[in-house]
Amino acid sequence: LSVLSVASEAYPLVKTGGLGDVVGALPAALAPHGVDVTTFLPGYPRVLAALEAGGAPLHRWPDLLGAPAQLLEGEIAGHRLLVLDAPGYFAREGGPYGDPAGRDWDDNWRRFAAFARAAADVAGGAVAGERYDVLHAHDWQSGLAPAYLRFAPPAPDAPRTVMTIHNIAFQGRYDAGIFASLALPALAFAVDGVEYYGGVGYLKAGLESADAITTVSPTYAREILSPDFGMGLEGLIRTRQRRVSGIVNGIDTAVWSPSADPSLPARYDAATLTRRATNKRAVEQAFDLDPGDGPIFCVVSRLTWQKGMDVLADAIPALVERGARLALLGSGDAWLEQAFRDAAERFPGQVGVRLGYDEALSHLLQAGSDAILIPSRFEPCGLTQLYGLAYGCVPVVARTGGLADTVIHANAAALAAGVATGIQFDTVTYESLVGAIALATDLHADAERWEQIQRAGMAADFSWATSGRRYASLYRELLAA
Ligand code: ADP
Ligand code: GLC
Repeated sequence: LSVLSVASEAYPLVKTGGLGDVVGALPAALAPHGVDVTTFLPGYPRVLAALEAGGAPLHRWPDLLGAPAQLLEGEIAGHRLLVLDAPGYFAREGGPYGDPAGRDWDDNWRRFAAFARAAADVAGGAVAGERYDVLHAHDWQSGLAPAYLRFAPPAPDAPRTVMTIHNIAFQGRYDAGIFASLALPALAFAVDGVEYYGGVGYLKAGLESADAITTVSPTYAREILSPDFGMGLEGLIRTRQRRVSGIVNGIDTAVWSPSADPSLPARYDAATLTRRATNKRAVEQAFDLDPGDGPIFCVVSRLTWQKGMDVLADAIPALVERGARLALLGSGDAWLEQAFRDAAERFPGQVGVRLGYDEALSHLLQAGSDAILIPSRFEPCGLTQLYGLAYGCVPVVARTGGLADTVIHANAAALAAGVATGIQFDTVTYESLVGAIALATDLHADAERWEQIQRAGMAADFSWATSGRRYASLYRELLAA
């Protein structure tokens, strides 16, 4: 069974968040189930640089929605990679979606329409030698691919399609005026097509056109049926509910295992937890924290409203007052970055902040901090709590989406049974977050109890074994239908 996995990010070549981790891990997760995944990425400079020079293009588009493009072949983590080399769209300084200052590119609608058109061509039989059973599209950047296969297939006998929602907040919504440039038949501009509140919706188009819809946790799959979480798409999700499933993300244990992690000063496992002390010293040094016995809470996050970072900023004085310290690694909204810079200045030695993106430092934080704070207002799955569980860095999380599904709250019963793996709190408010920090600090003071929580988390299996099997059965069901 062959799958073309179509996404704008894939670790280790390009990653701005969890999407990259998941797309990067899927090929290895599915291989044991007889599913052969080829990943399809835009040809950003970093992606092209990772290809072996000199390979002949597999296909050329003289005019792909307004610019020439060609298809190149490579490898990602030992699996097959196809790359859309289209300099007019992707040969730019900056991130995958915006300029170096973080402003979205004006022509993102055209960049990701071209990308989706090419994906539909590759999966749908327009490229000699390429043929796939399933096209699996991730998030809005790939949302038009199922729509192209439905409304303008390059050949008869189009592949089955899966649309995965990693985050419904990002929808790719544009003015109706772009429709004429998408090279779709007029009938596609309809309520059950790509039309969305009078404009064009890329994620909407994918959700409306795909044979199956998945999202990245069972709780989020339920939450998006309601307006608070569905963000305008709840009606559509409700009508297509029979085709929606929630498959929780796994973690790539080749990248995230504390006993084999090259970025740690001290590697360890559940039997050698005391070695974490060396990593804790390294965290103190990296974040200019005073040495101490109290807990270090860490944050590894995009600094945005979704992640509840405004509430966290407010809670810092209360955290410090309890004798805890904070080490924060993140980047995002300017006002939040400023709020954390201010906190670091106000509480030197107790609050350390690193603004930016640093993969190695994110591993060290999980390996040396006592707990990770994740006060998200919504969280489709969340990966940092899973890394925390695997690393004995106890997750303190809001009870939403994948956070609700993956952390077992340390209430009295769970503690007594020895199954608690973290702390959950209900609504993302100052009071509940401070309450959760207080509970974590109290539990941490009882070393034996804390270790029990750490060990229970480390023993939980969040590898891709189960979820890989679920994706594989979904593909097979679609082919059998
Ligand atoms: P989201 O995709 O919504 O940002 P996830 O928890 O699913 O949230 O995934 C976030 C991923 O990005 C994790 O791999 C996390 O470690 C990583 N990450 C987030 N911010 C940073 C940062 N500043 N530096 C390094 N890694 C980061
Ligand atoms: C999104 C979500 C996050 C999820 C990730 C990977 O970025 O915000 O919760 O873990 O996608 O699926």
